[in-house]
Amino acid sequence: MVSRVIPVESFDLVIFGGTGDLARRKILPGLFRRFCAGQMPEDARILGAARAELDDEGYREFVRDAIVEFDGERPKTCPKLAEFLATLGYVTTDARGEAGWPDLAARLREGRVRAFYFSVGPGLFGDIAERLHRHGMAPRDSRIVVEKPFGRDLETARQLNATLAEHFKEDQIYRIDHYLGKETVQNLMAVRFGNMLFEPLWNSQYVDHIQITVAETVGVGGRGGYYDKSGAMRDMVQNHLMQLLCLIAMEPPAKFDPDAVRDEKLKVIRALEPVEPHHIVRGQYDASEEEGSYRDHAENPTSKTESFMALKTHVSNWRWAGTPIYLRTGKRMKARTSEIAVVFKDTPHSIFGPEAGQHRNVLSIRLQPNEGITLGVTIKEPGPGGMRLVDVPLDMTFADALGPEAEEVPDAYERLIMDVIRGNQTLFMRGDEVEAAWAWTDPIIQGWEARGDVPKLYDSGSSGPEDALMLMHRDGRKWREIKA
Ligand code: BG6
Repeated sequence: MVSRVIPVESFDLVIFGGTGDLARRKILPGLFRRFCAGQMPEDARILGAARAELDDEGYREFVRDAIVEFDGERPKTCPKLAEFLATLGYVTTDARGEAGWPDLAARLREGRVRAFYFSVGPGLFGDIAERLHRHGMAPRDSRIVVEKPFGRDLETARQLNATLAEHFKEDQIYRIDHYLGKETVQNLMAVRFGNMLFEPLWNSQYVDHIQITVAETVGVGGRGGYYDKSGAMRDMVQNHLMQLLCLIAMEPPAKFDPDAVRDEKLKVIRALEPVEPHHIVRGQYDASEEEGSYRDHAENPTSKTESFMALKTHVSNWRWAGTPIYLRTGKRMKARTSEIAVVFKDTPHSIFGPEAGQHRNVLSIRLQPNEGITLGVTIKEPGPGGMRLVDVPLDMTFADALGPEAEEVPDAYERLIMDVIRGNQTLFMRGDEVEAAWAWTDPIIQGWEARGDVPKLYDSGSSGPEDALMLMHRDGRKWREIKA
């Protein structure tokens, strides 16, 4: 397979929070990989902007260290590190004061795509947006990129949208949900809308239920302070799992274009039913022999924040009425795995008799690790001895299917940043989508707060609390196994 990397136009990218954790871990190593792949032009310019007192050379050192720390193998296979570092510059900038802004303005070039990455807390969005305007740095075709958390409820999300809207039009605002940048997530759309095979079956007449699992083995680590104020619902469900749910449940858009896709996603979110309290399970991980409990990590001995969340919901529309959707996510679980499983109904009548057993087709879309899609089909168990049925996977692990020559799959951030430069908003959340997601989430959170709900403890390295298993068992269903 021939690699088809199409270089983007030359650009100036300013990263506010350019010395922060996200910049070090994801943004800068990601840009280096795009540079190595030949997608980022050599005359592009990346400017770090933050409070730290650094000069261009100091920032290059900082970025070199970040690349070595987070993608150490790359410089060994890609000899372009020095060239990449030459595209970098730095301006000491005070987001709330005046220092640095004229200097930053002077360093931007005319006639290039101009993008500003707000890799800072949402409390600074307004300050930065206002200064970009006041210093004449944000022409109509410039773009801003903002990170989650986009608010912590509907009210704060509305305020953030309103603040950004004072200075930027919606088509300039790129709200990142990095799950949308994952290869398989886009493949989900290719599979659904590029094949005739699935669409006729993609509804409640044939689909028994859908389950989405995002399980992590890591705990909250050094992020306890942030996480304890968020919990799994705000940190994962309101955004990442919601986006997966939208892509699996939405109607086919008329074209693969930003607003057509986002209009359909919005309809799904607006059709989500409120969740009944007994369809919600919250959990908190307990200590293991090696590691502390959630409460230790969060440094809050009475924390009621959930590190695990499972729930059952419905999309109330013609396509999905009667097909439950189960969502589950948690930290310190058995294995790191993210999977969407579409579980089809039983055949209406089994001609093989009860001994053959009941078998169901499952379409499993694995986001990570081993990205790929598997369709479980039922066949005859080989050999003599009557008609016994067995489920086998029709497996399409992308790495195997596309072969070693296929271009390395870019990380979600790399792809999304290149989309910003290309001016393609398809994989970014629109303001109304984010608000609709909070409008569904808020009453769920308010409900458990009002009930004084305390999350159930679960063992580190397990599949979550027992109650989560019961959520499915009560319906005569079961979760797919969490396995690496
Ligand atoms: C982030 C959450 O958005 O996504 C983290 O804040 C979580 O808590 C992470 O660990 C998971 O992302 P990924 O790409 O590792 O599945």
